[in-house]
Amino acid sequence: HGNVTTMKPAILVTGGAGYVGSHTVASLLERQDATDYDIVVVDNLSNAYRAEGRKKPECLRIIEEMTDKTIHFYEVDIRDATGLSRVFENHNIDCVIHFAALKAVGESVQKPLEYYQANITGTCTLFDVMRKYGVYKLVYSSSCTVYGEPEKLPLNESHPTGQGLTSPYGKSKYFCEEIMKDICRSDKKWMVISLRYFNPVGAHHSGRIGEDPSGIPNNLMPFIAQVAVGRLKELLVFGNDYPTADGTGVRDYIHVEDLAEGHVKAIKLFHQPGFSGFHAVNLGTGTGYSVLQMVKAFEVACGRQIPYKIVGRRDGDIAANYADVSLSHRLLGWRAIKTLEDMCADTWRWQSNNPDGFKCS
Ligand code: NAD
Ligand code: WQD
Repeated sequence: HGNVTTMKPAILVTGGAGYVGSHTVASLLERQDATDYDIVVVDNLSNAYRAEGRKKPECLRIIEEMTDKTIHFYEVDIRDATGLSRVFENHNIDCVIHFAALKAVGESVQKPLEYYQANITGTCTLFDVMRKYGVYKLVYSSSCTVYGEPEKLPLNESHPTGQGLTSPYGKSKYFCEEIMKDICRSDKKWMVISLRYFNPVGAHHSGRIGEDPSGIPNNLMPFIAQVAVGRLKELLVFGNDYPTADGTGVRDYIHVEDLAEGHVKAIKLFHQPGFSGFHAVNLGTGTGYSVLQMVKAFEVACGRQIPYKIVGRRDGDIAANYADVSLSHRLLGWRAIKTLEDMCADTWRWQSNNPDGFKCS
């Protein structure tokens, strides 16, 4: 393999064939200084589509086409230390952006072991291999779910975490944060930025990559988009008796391209003199919208009606959450710039151009 340290530095993106990961890979490659780094993606394709006879998953193939750059892809599971080591042998990895995880809240209640293995064992294995290769910089995909039921809004990073979490998925994100804090305490070389995403929505402005859930979507935005395109009959609105303006749940939806840019800003912190340890940072817009506001905004974007029916609350849901975004401004020099209209228009461009997701692109 030659001497890896004389090779161009690389950014390892685990789960880079997924929704947020692929948009982050696109952001990294669309930058002016993109050629300073190789981009290496590790993904086991458990939630990403690769066409028959191709080497790379569809989203990465399309990003290569759009950017005219190469992505180094490995079909490897993050629990496979040998497979991961091979990647670290082949590239001069400088830092890791770690997206790989299972993420369906409801499914995690049925399959806790699978979730803990993928999300916790997988993360520990990754850290172990990183240490073996002397790589100490990691950006983690955390979630607003670690806050549980908000005591006070907006949610800032000092709000307690881990209390009253109802799903193994949510707990896995919280446990991983606790593990990463301990790792950082044990050795000052570690730098970990845990980005707590609020609700990622939208798609690449090109309409060529986007969220492609398998089966019936669990989340609001892809569900609405599939109703709009005719794949689903109507939206079920989970509860209209919450203490919110119109009674439906309120969330801080953030455009996935803004979110991706947050990761690009986060890795820059690693080069700041004196930066070390564990840092949790919210990535949101700071503004909450209700389910019915989302429906109305999407109707405008797609020019169609979204039929919906009010049904009972969904287990484990909270009334409202939105982020205090001041730390992300201060620490990352980042803020979300896309509007709700952008989120809906870009989702619609992706969904209407690719009614069956990547399978028809
Ligand atoms: P996604 O399912 O689209 O992407 C995850 C990717 O990881 C997939 O491509 C999947 O194939 C891969 N993967 C899963 N298990 C793996 C394993 N064991 N080894 C290797 N690859 C594996 O999900 P996403 O929405 O892009 O989420 C990315 C990250 O962000 C996750 O960690 C998720 O928990 C976190 N997050 C997501 C949201 C959201 O609403 N989308 C919100 C907060 C946090
Ligand atoms: C949004 C709102 C629903 C679907 C989830 C995870 C969280 C984080 C982000 C990963 C709520 C309502 C939804 C539907 C509806 N993910 N809704 N009908 O639950 O806020 O957050 O994704 O870390 O951990 O829990 O997102 O999109 O599922 O729901 O009425 O068919 O839409 O009740 O008010 P949620 P969501």
